[in-house]
Amino acid sequence: MDLITSRAVLREELCNARSGGGTVGFVPTMGALHGGHLSLVSAAREDCDCVAVSIFVNPTQFGDPADLAAYPRDLERDLSMCTAKGVDFVFCPAVEEMYPGGSLDTAVVPGSLAEVLEGPSRPGHLSAVATVVTKLLSIAGSCRAYFGEKDFQQLAVVRRLVADLDLPVEVVGCPTVREEDGVAMSSRNLRLGASERQAATALLRALLEGAGKVARGERSGAIVARAMAAVLGAEPLVEVDYAAVADPRSLERVDDIVSEVRLLVAATIGPVRLIDNLAATPPAAAAQAR
Ligand code: PAJ
Repeated sequence: MDLITSRAVLREELCNARSGGGTVGFVPTMGALHGGHLSLVSAAREDCDCVAVSIFVNPTQFGDPADLAAYPRDLERDLSMCTAKGVDFVFCPAVEEMYPGGSLDTAVVPGSLAEVLEGPSRPGHLSAVATVVTKLLSIAGSCRAYFGEKDFQQLAVVRRLVADLDLPVEVVGCPTVREEDGVAMSSRNLRLGASERQAATALLRALLEGAGKVARGERSGAIVARAMAAVLGAEPLVEVDYAAVADPRSLERVDDIVSEVRLLVAATIGPVRLIDNLAATPPAAAAQAR
């Protein structure tokens, strides 16, 4: 496995990998790797001849400097996990390599997909993600790029920017990997105390409550959203940000549930903000699919 810090070298190595007819799988991450990240790496390893993982804690996508400072970093551990997974290249650029002179003059600004959910809660975040992902995909070149459904809105934004900007990339969405108690794996879970970690199980419980209602025929998006918010609200350590029922493609709020929807929740617990989501299918749509 090669550790690469230069954009030019990564571009050249991946060009070389393709020139012999090989396919490239690319997994962008911010490091502090866990089972969620590794599932993307495994999918890439299965599908592609050459696998590259990027590890870059992108400063521009953090609203709060304290959150950036507290973001876990352990490059040695990340590298040994990548080696064990058979990764070919790890791209680990310095901030100056990605933002020469400190900042860019150009940004990728997502449209309607970024106006909902995380959009109002984290101003500028999805644009910063879209910009850095566009840079990373542009450096990687023609590839399959793997992203987790855990960050469902991010995945939708990336799919859309790849289509809109004609990037030669096939985006592959991968299912959320969870801890044994159902909490979605996240680098931020490490910052939760024991009782906060227990409270974090409320996110999936809320989603399951909502999905259960939808499966039993509840068609009102507002009623399902309220039921999810009630589960979250019952946990004293959980401060609810949103509980939403959305169209899986447009991410617009769904008032009348007649086909598959995406349930999404966000909440602050102690020092961290957590997000999670789940598909929910109404009975008629489930019957049709059978
Ligand atoms: P990061 O939070 O490190 O996540 C990297 C990738 O791993 C993302 O595609 C994310 O959705 C996926 N992932 C995280 N937890 C997961 C889980 N429990 N199950 C499945 N996949 C999971 O997302 C980012 O970094 C950044 O915004 C990035 C795209 C790298 C741009 O800076």
